[in-house]
Amino acid sequence: MAPLWSVYVLLTALVLLQNFKAHADDDKPLGSPFVQRAVREAIELVDKAYKETRVSQKQQLSKRSLKPSDLLRFFKHPVATTRVAVRSAEYMENTLRLIQQHVHRVHKRSLNATDLLTAADLDTIARVTGCLAIRQPPICKDDCFTDRYRTFTSVCNNRRKPRLGSSHTPFTRWLPPHYEDGFSLPLGWTPGRQVSRFPLPLVRDVSNKILRTRNEDVVNDLEVTHLFMQWGQWIDHDMSLSPHSGSIQTFNDGIDCERTCVQRNPCFPIRIPRGDTRIKNQRICLPFIRSAPACGSGELGSLFGDVNTRQQMNVLTSFIDVNEVYGSTDCLANKLRNLTNELGLLAVNEEFSDNGREYLPFNTISSNLCGRMGESCFTNENSTPCFIAGDVRVNEQLGVLTFHTVFLREHNRLARELKKMNPHWSGDTTYQEARKILGAFQQIINHRDYVPLVIGDEATMKYLSPYEGYDESIDPGIANVVATAAFRFGHLSIQPKLFRVDENYQEHPQFKSLDLHQAFFTPWRLIKEGGVDPLMRGLLGRPAKLQRQDKMLPDELREKLFELTAHLGMDLGSLNMQRSRDHGLPGYNAWRRFCGLSAPRNQGQLSSILRNRDLARRLIDLYRTPENIDVWLGAISEPFEAGGRVGPLLACLIGQQFKNLRDGDRFWWENDGVFSGSQRQALQKISMSRIICDNTRIEFLPRNAFKFRQYPQGYVHCSDIPKVDLSAWREDAQVTPCGSVPVVKHAHFSICKSSVRYTCESRFELVGGDTITCLSNGQWNQEPPGCVDPQSTGHHNIRIKVIQGGKGGCVPKGPNGKCIQSASQNDVEKVQLNEKNVKIKNAILSGKTSNG
Ligand code: HEM
Ligand SMILES: *[C@@H]1O[C@H](CO)[C@@H](O)[C@H](O)[C@H]1NC(C)=O
Ligand SMILES: *[C@@H]1O[C@H](CO)[C@@H](O)[C@H](O)[C@H]1NC(C)=O
Repeated sequence: MAPLWSVYVLLTALVLLQNFKAHADDDKPLGSPFVQRAVREAIELVDKAYKETRVSQKQQLSKRSLKPSDLLRFFKHPVATTRVAVRSAEYMENTLRLIQQHVHRVHKRSLNATDLLTAADLDTIARVTGCLAIRQPPICKDDCFTDRYRTFTSVCNNRRKPRLGSSHTPFTRWLPPHYEDGFSLPLGWTPGRQVSRFPLPLVRDVSNKILRTRNEDVVNDLEVTHLFMQWGQWIDHDMSLSPHSGSIQTFNDGIDCERTCVQRNPCFPIRIPRGDTRIKNQRICLPFIRSAPACGSGELGSLFGDVNTRQQMNVLTSFIDVNEVYGSTDCLANKLRNLTNELGLLAVNEEFSDNGREYLPFNTISSNLCGRMGESCFTNENSTPCFIAGDVRVNEQLGVLTFHTVFLREHNRLARELKKMNPHWSGDTTYQEARKILGAFQQIINHRDYVPLVIGDEATMKYLSPYEGYDESIDPGIANVVATAAFRFGHLSIQPKLFRVDENYQEHPQFKSLDLHQAFFTPWRLIKEGGVDPLMRGLLGRPAKLQRQDKMLPDELREKLFELTAHLGMDLGSLNMQRSRDHGLPGYNAWRRFCGLSAPRNQGQLSSILRNRDLARRLIDLYRTPENIDVWLGAISEPFEAGGRVGPLLACLIGQQFKNLRDGDRFWWENDGVFSGSQRQALQKISMSRIICDNTRIEFLPRNAFKFRQYPQGYVHCSDIPKVDLSAWREDAQVTPCGSVPVVKHAHFSICKSSVRYTCESRFELVGGDTITCLSNGQWNQEPPGCVDPQSTGHHNIRIKVIQGGKGGCVPKGPNGKCIQSASQNDVEKVQLNEKNVKIKNAILSGKTSNG
């Protein structure tokens, strides 16, 4: 065995040497045979599980009836870019696990994997798994034009640590994770295993005993509208999405997570307690797939930092940048645009319209680039395809879909207005400027109108005192505890119904309000049942659910989540708590201490914090100690802060997060140089009500869309709601110090500081440098370029391409050779690096084959 093995290594080394002679200096020798074997085994395991998952996904999606868990998986399943990143992390994690198991077997004692690995070994593993490529720091450009707008991935927002807040990076940890085995297994993994000297209760047991609320017992919150709830989910979908593992079956033996109570990575099924409120058969489990691991964040010093402990990945950019409209990858962003003209629009539905207003496009545009899983959709007889948007959860329920639709319309409305004022702008400039304005709207409405109503007066003063400028040292990443627990506070304000009302804010005569479970994944209802307006009025004109200590989560969400047919519905409360254990979140008291709050040691102290003896008793009955209470549950149990909708712990966690998102965002709307003074003035007029007025047929509504008023008291006409005057965006081509901008036929241009950049209309090609700069002597530094028709002149394409490439400009592709997206140098390097890794990987794998 051993000799054979070394022959194989030798062979592989030879292959590698041959393949990479050119890179001999930067290719460190591959690690020990032992490490290699582990990597190879891990890659095979993961690839096999992925492949089998793919096959079974296909089968299930083609079936007519879907299980609720299919729906959750639909948006949690990693696709495209996410899949690449997740797969690398899974290779890495499985490699370390295999090494660990082996060591355990041989040495009969528990050692953690990294103790046995040299830095070079780790480097090898990272390289072969692809984690190294993912972690390579990108190079940030700083010319005026490329640095003017956010990147889609938000990479380079922070110029010192370019990945901070960007998509597909690990969540930020505010406290170290707490795993059962110290680095990877969820708390509560081993039944009966003690944490803080007590075993953890089953999450479903907690849900039954603490959260359970009958739909009809729900109490209304007469202060805030149901739209206040919907904004919460909307802003959450701007901040975080944690993907599942790419496999839905166990890695070593291929057991399907959906059909088993077997607990083995990545399956972490939710077990049913005795005397369950709904499920009588205790041998059934509610399916739960662990979130995918992420390649180490590397921000902790050494190359791989804390390589040992499992991190989770945020698929989205953390920044408040409306990524749910635009996408968090270049690929998706392009797919969502209308690139057939120079109008700067987002693509819209070409089959249906809402009384002349736009709908989102269907998710049917075929594209191999962006992956395939996400494009299939749930169809049955009277359904339409699903919609596509910048976030995969767009179809999850009709309320969030309504928001997506209205914000798409707002982008296009802005783009049309801007283009009217600035006909010299290219489609790209128009699109980016509209995107930038919509981003500011989102930040203003969120931080000025929404967050204070959530965290209350005191926390608002503490965390959102007036803006003092950008601080590069702040990590704008979404904290794991915020995505996994704190910001899920909003689940407690969801009504069991989605209301649909008419012009008089009365129950809609034709399209009655829906039980929430009838609104999950039913995009066809938007098109076939009255469009956006009845739903939007329902959000505006009806109160949110009130979070009360005795009326927590209605059955719609606890027994019927994603229940479309007679299948086993999911339980949102159980999911939240199981997820926090999966992510290794420390318990309630750890977070109380983190926030400088008292940590209750017993039932008496807990009951004085909660101001509720009965609840404290029931919590202690389950958890035995306040230390162990799942942080989401403990936090939502606290009474509200004055003027807010959460208790002190959540006010701290949510306040801190929104402060980081403001002060750590280089493109924050108030930051110097992002907008001009007059633009900032204009932007402040925005309100959610205005956006609704401009993009629906609704004419009367509450002035503040978040504050509940009983119609018609306090309702105003749209003409009474201030508008944003866009004239501050008129670009004056006459006033550069060098005089007016030279006119180039068939070209668009855009001004950035003292430079002007030209792009040609489609069909025309640029000759000369695309950018001219006004020098201090009042002269342009060079002649403006020309736009020529290649058919009529027969100009040499080659020269043109070189010029474009050299400037890092556009790479022509897409319809009619259109300039859709320039691949940055980073992308190119990343691809090259990836290709190299694939080669190394293939070499290792083929080495095995040649070995028998
Ligand atoms: C009808 C409305 C809603 C439904 C059906 C819904 C459903 C869900 C589901 C199924 C998950 C994934 C659970 C898991 O497996 O971990 C989730 C995650 C989440 N929800 Fe909701 N939710 C709704 C509204 C809200 C609201 C109002 C908020 C906040 C105010 C919110 C915040 C979040 C957050 C932060 C996550 C974690 C996202 C991630 O990082 O993956 N949700 N929600
Ligand atoms: C790994 O081992 C080292 C020393 O043996 C220890 O200090 C460290 O805490 C361990 N890490 C984990 C995550 O168990
Ligand atoms: C693109 O814009 C043009 C002009 O407004 C429109 O006719 C066309 O339907 C749009 N295409 C898509 C896919 O939105």
